[in-house]
Amino acid sequence: MAEIEQNGAIVTLFSTASAVGKTLVGTNLAAELARGGYRVCLLDLDLQFGDVCNYLQLMPESTIADAQQAFAVEGDHARVEACLTPYERDGIIFYVLANPSLLEEAYNIKPDTVKRIVQQLQTMFNYIVIDTSSMFSVLNLSMLDISTVVVFLGIVDFLPTIKNMKSGIDTLKKLNYDRNKLRIVLNRSNARTRIPMDEVTGILGETFYHILPNDFQAANASIKSGVPLVLSQGGDGLGLALRELVRRSTNQHYEEEPADGNEKNSGGLFHRLFGKG
Ligand SMILES: Nc1ncnc2c1ncn2[C@@H]1O[C@H](COP(=O)(O)OP(=O)(O)OP(=O)(O)O)[C@@H](O)[C@H]1O
Ligand SMILES: [Mg+2]
Repeated sequence: MAEIEQNGAIVTLFSTASAVGKTLVGTNLAAELARGGYRVCLLDLDLQFGDVCNYLQLMPESTIADAQQAFAVEGDHARVEACLTPYERDGIIFYVLANPSLLEEAYNIKPDTVKRIVQQLQTMFNYIVIDTSSMFSVLNLSMLDISTVVVFLGIVDFLPTIKNMKSGIDTLKKLNYDRNKLRIVLNRSNARTRIPMDEVTGILGETFYHILPNDFQAANASIKSGVPLVLSQGGDGLGLALRELVRRSTNQHYEEEPADGNEKNSGGLFHRLFGKG
């Protein structure tokens, strides 16, 4: 893999609740970007309980723990490349840096080293997609900090989840992120909920950048087969909505319209900052 000069864009999936779809969306974003011809690395920073390799049915020989070890021994001569696992299907390829296989290794991963790893990945890839755990940990905050775009995922099943989402959004706003950096995405939108959408956006004080439908069967089948929805034939509703999320963000043949039609936003940050390499 030849190094490229540009700095790859960092897209981080984050949420304040678990099981809202970060890993499902993250694997699909990576696959769709790869389908679009970009060089992509998917980094599993849900260190203890990461699911990326499960969702893609990968058996990694090396993980981020090996990458950290390489940095400890070789300093800046360490090559993260040797620790990547390829995911390949029908000629589409992207790379995964897996979470550690042992809990004690996960515990010992240092945020500073992860930053160096990501910086090296930026020299090799157009996009680094980062899957996280649902907490404001030192590691996650440092990744949110260096991200080009934060996809903040939420589902709105109960008032407490909306409240937690609001406090997460408010925290990120307090960190003075560029408004364009934070993309609030509603997942499983038509799942049974008793809370009307205008009430949700009223509580959040935000509108959704994009909305993904609920499709348990499609999500489940994709995880079982290890094939991201965007790469399966036919393109069901959820797969198409995931493709649209990427198209909107990269300005690929998509007319910019906010998901709820209420708010203008400029979008296309990925493309403007980091064109295809
Ligand atoms: N749009 C959707 N429709 C139906 N089911 C979905 C959808 N998105 C995700 N799911 C399902 O929700 C479950 C949780 O998804 P996922 O593992 O991606 O969430 P997560 O935020 O990564 O969770 P964790 O915090 O545990 O890492 C999975 O079973 C997945 O299939
Ligand atoms: Mg996950």
